Amino acid sequence: MKNPMPAPSPFGQELASQTADGAGINLEQLKAPSPEDVAAITRLWIATGLIPAIRDARQDIENCISADNGSLIVARMPDDQQIFATMMTGHDTVFGWIHYLAIAEHAQGSGIGSELVALAEDILRLSGLSEIRVTIENAAAGDFYAKLGYDFIGSVTGQDHPDSPQNKIMRKSLVK
Ligand SMILES: CC(C)(COP(=O)(O)OP(=O)(O)OC[C@H]1O[C@@H](n2cnc3c(N)ncnc32)[C@H](O)[C@@H]1OP(=O)(O)O)[C@@H](O)C(=O)NCCC(=O)NCCS
Repeated sequence: MKNPMPAPSPFGQELASQTADGAGINLEQLKAPSPEDVAAITRLWIATGLIPAIRDARQDIENCISADNGSLIVARMPDDQQIFATMMTGHDTVFGWIHYLAIAEHAQGSGIGSELVALAEDILRLSGLSEIRVTIENAAAGDFYAKLGYDFIGSVTGQDHPDSPQNKIMRKSLVK
C-alpha cells in the first residue's frame, strides 16, 4: 500500500501505521460512517466470523460512535477507500475493552492486527485505564492475543444465549 495519508487520531494527532513488510496503512477514527462504510464493515465482520450472516453491523457501529468512551478505528484500502480492518475500543471506567478486531483475510499476517491492538492500548492508557480486556471467540484469536502479552483469566457464557459455548476473557496490564 502506498502514499499513506494519516487521519486525525482520537487525540488530535496524526496516526500512521506500517505493515510488517513496510507498507503504510491509514488508520481513521470513524465518526460519520457512510452507508457504504456500514455495508463494508458488515461484510468484513461476517467474513471473519464475528457476526452471523443474518446480522447488520449498523446498530453496534452507532452504539460505539455515540458512546462518550467509544472509538471505532478503521483502515481503508488506498485505492477504493474500502474499509478492510476494524477495531472498537471502550471502557466501563474499570476496564478497557477491545471489540470487533477484524482484518480482511487478504491483509492478515501483515502486522495490522498487532498495530490496532497497540493503538487500543494507547487510547485506553490515555483514558486512565490500567487494564485492558478482550472476549475471545475462537482459539486462533487466543493465540494471537497471547503473543501480544495477554493472559487468560476466565470464561463467560454469552448473555443473549445462555446455552452458547463459553467465551474466554483475556487481560493485559496497561501500567508500564
Ligand atoms: C486475529 C487477527 C485480528 C490477527 O490480525 P493479523 O493482522 O492477521 O495479525 P498480525 O499480523 O498482527 O500477527 C501478530 C502475531 O500473531 C500471530 N497470529 C496472527 N493470527 C494468528 C492466528 N490465527 N493464530 C495464531 N497466531 C496468529 C502472527 O503469527 C504474529 O506472530 P509473530 O509476531 O510471531 O509473527 C486476524 O487474523 C483476524 O481478523 N481474524 C478474524 C477475526 C477474529 O478472530 N478477531 C478476533 C476476535 S476476538
